[in-house]
Amino acid sequence: MAKRSGRILSDGDPLIRLESISKTYSEGVEALHDVSFSINKGEFVFIVGPSGSGKSTLIKILLKELDPTSGNIHVAGSDLGTLKRRQVSRYRRNIGVVFQNFELLKDRSVYENIALAQRVIGVPKRKINRNVSSMLSLVGLNDKIKVNPEELSGGEQQRVALARALVNRPTILLADEPTGNLDPGNAWSIMELMNEINKLGTTVIVVTHNPEVVDAMQKRVIAMKEGRIIADISKGRYIYERN
Ligand SMILES: Nc1ncnc2c1ncn2[C@@H]1O[C@H](COP(=O)(O)OP(=O)(O)O)[C@@H](O)[C@H]1O
Ligand SMILES: [Mg+2]
Repeated sequence: MAKRSGRILSDGDPLIRLESISKTYSEGVEALHDVSFSINKGEFVFIVGPSGSGKSTLIKILLKELDPTSGNIHVAGSDLGTLKRRQVSRYRRNIGVVFQNFELLKDRSVYENIALAQRVIGVPKRKINRNVSSMLSLVGLNDKIKVNPEELSGGEQQRVALARALVNRPTILLADEPTGNLDPGNAWSIMELMNEINKLGTTVIVVTHNPEVVDAMQKRVIAMKEGRIIADISKGRYIYERN
C-alpha cells in the first residue's frame, strides 16, 4: 500500500474509478448520465463518440476543472469529491493533458513552454534543463529547443505539447482529440508516440474521432452517446454512431 499526504491507493485498486457520474450544466443540459467505469494503472483507453456526447466534460471532471452533479470519482487515491481547494493543484500534478489546439504559448520558445511546467512546481534550473532535453528527445525535437511554436508544423507543436504534459512525470496522460487538427501522417505519429509513452508506464486516455487509428491499435474503447456509455470493449474497434 502506498500512502502519501493523505492519499491512499491499495495495490488492487483501479487508478481511476467513476461511480454513477452525472453532470448537468446550469443551463439544464445533461452532459453525462450515470457514467461508471474503472481504469487500471498502465492501461491505454480510447474514448469515442459523436460530438456533444460528453467526452470533454468527462476529461474536465477528471482534471477537477468541473465537479459532477452527482456520483463519486476517485483518481490516484484521491476522492475528488472531498478534495480541498488547496489540494487541487497538487492533485493535478498526477495528470498531463494535451488538447486539439496544442495551446502552447506563442511568444515563448519551445524550451520555455516546457520549462514553465517545471518552474511552477519549484524544480531547480539545472534539473529543468536536463528534464526539458530528455522530454524533447522522447518526442524527437531536440533541434527545435530554441524556436517559437509558430515556426513549427502542427505535428511538431503537438509533440511539444506532449513534452510539456509529460515533463512533470504524471501518472496519467489525458488527450482530448489530440489529432483533430493534424493530417493523417502526423496523427499516426502522435498516436504511436502516446503508445510508446504508455509502454513506459503512463496510463493514457485518448478522446478521438479517428476510426483508422482506433481500429489499428486494438486498445480498450469506451464509446459514449448522449452522455451515456454505450460500449466498453477491451481490444475494441471504433464504434460508429448509429441512429
Ligand atoms: N459549459 C457548458 N455549459 C452548458 N452546456 C455545455 C457546456 N459544455 C458542454 N455543454 C454541453 O454538454 C454536452 C456535452 O458536451 P461535451 O462534453 O463538450 O461533448 P463532446 O466533447 O463529446 O463533444 C453538449 O450538449 C454540450 O453542448
Ligand atoms: Mg469535446
